[in-house]
Amino acid sequence: MPIMEPYRIKVVEPIPITTRPYREKAMARAGYNPFNLTAEDVTIDFLSDSGTNALSAEQQAAGMRADETYAGARSFFRFKDVVSELTGYEHMFPVHQGRAAERILFTTLLKPGQVSVSNTHFDTTRANVEMAGCVARDLPCQEAADLDSDAPFKGDIDLEALRGALAGPDDVGVVLMTITNNGGGGQPVSMANLEAVAKLAAEFGVPFFLDAARFAENAWLVNQREPGYRDVSPREIARKAFALADGCVASLKKDGIVHIGGMLAMRDPELAKRCELVLIATEGFRTYGGLSGRDLDMLAQGLLEVTEPTYLRARAEATAYLADQARLGGVDSVRPAGVHALYLNAGRLLPHIPPERFPGHALACELYLAGGIRCAELGSLYLGELDDDGNLLKPAPYELVRMAIPRRVYTQSHLEYVAEVLTGIAKAPEKVPGYRLTEVPKLLRHFNCRLEQASD
Ligand code: F0G
Repeated sequence: MPIMEPYRIKVVEPIPITTRPYREKAMARAGYNPFNLTAEDVTIDFLSDSGTNALSAEQQAAGMRADETYAGARSFFRFKDVVSELTGYEHMFPVHQGRAAERILFTTLLKPGQVSVSNTHFDTTRANVEMAGCVARDLPCQEAADLDSDAPFKGDIDLEALRGALAGPDDVGVVLMTITNNGGGGQPVSMANLEAVAKLAAEFGVPFFLDAARFAENAWLVNQREPGYRDVSPREIARKAFALADGCVASLKKDGIVHIGGMLAMRDPELAKRCELVLIATEGFRTYGGLSGRDLDMLAQGLLEVTEPTYLRARAEATAYLADQARLGGVDSVRPAGVHALYLNAGRLLPHIPPERFPGHALACELYLAGGIRCAELGSLYLGELDDDGNLLKPAPYELVRMAIPRRVYTQSHLEYVAEVLTGIAKAPEKVPGYRLTEVPKLLRHFNCRLEQASD
């Protein structure tokens, strides 16, 4: 069955069609780090689904209607109305992107030494917890450890471990549930799990927040996979999820279907007052928070469109289709397929490359060299423990490559092309070389490092 994308194309943007010799030169120039490639080098860009979305005609129109008044702009109130209807939270601040909401929340809510407990903190979320002088603890459920299991909600938190953390000696300052669980294979969190978390957090008097970057995609997977939700609309499911928590941080560059934006929202008026002060000092006045009126109006419209079942169905089907085609071609990914990304199992595809030669990175480089496809490693290069010379001390638990799929940007033909490139690589995986680090920055290694192909 073809995927019926529920939109037609009104504006087109050419994508570069390059040759292998061109890509070899580009990759050498980039120090074999896809983050150093430029847009004109890349044919299919699966580096991130964040801020890479296509706007709808209605969003463009909303952008034209926008009001750029400094304080109290009409655009803010349109944004606020949509967010209130969706989340039910009384206090709500726009911010320029998700990590700004994280910084404001953690520096305001947490005291140094406290612990933030999560199904999995996203990397900026962890960094913001740590920069607030606190500890970020991930407690993913047991099923998450088996990449091949088809358990439907591998994004859940381990409830026993959560109870242990709340009842233990540590001072837990917040429970944060990431929906969907980006750091954990893009897997969804069940409503049953969220309900249990809400109960436990209330029992121990600890605030419960959502990291809601992909709230609509989580709602879709609940609708499809959780008993009792087949007849509940994704919007209603999303509302129920927000209703269980005390507030949320969200990067709206994902399910806001825009290019920039985020929000921080909550019920507690006293906490909101304190957050507002930090917001005004560091992001902008409370009715714009670092965004333009145009951004706010386009977000208000995007937040309505993102829960449309026809849109969510086509997007989820596209990801599942790519997962199936890749598997048929010989490349496994974390099962079951989520919505925003495919996490390829590079460790399994390239067993001849040991972790210290970065098999995930090797597959990411090969996808670019073979087909101009850009994606990011999630393995030992990013998550492993390295010494100052780039020697691997402790490998990551898995060697994965994330193919993150921008919203409404690529068609089924593009996905067929990607599957064909993957299939080609899987025909002679032993030809893919490993990589050695030549420059190892101390901080934010994966963004800035340089590598070379290793012949050993
Ligand atoms: N939380 C989650 C779950 C995320 O995936 C991201 C960003 C953030 C927070 C931070 O939001 O970028 O707006 O500041 N994820 C992007 C990605 C970068 O590619 O997965 P931000």
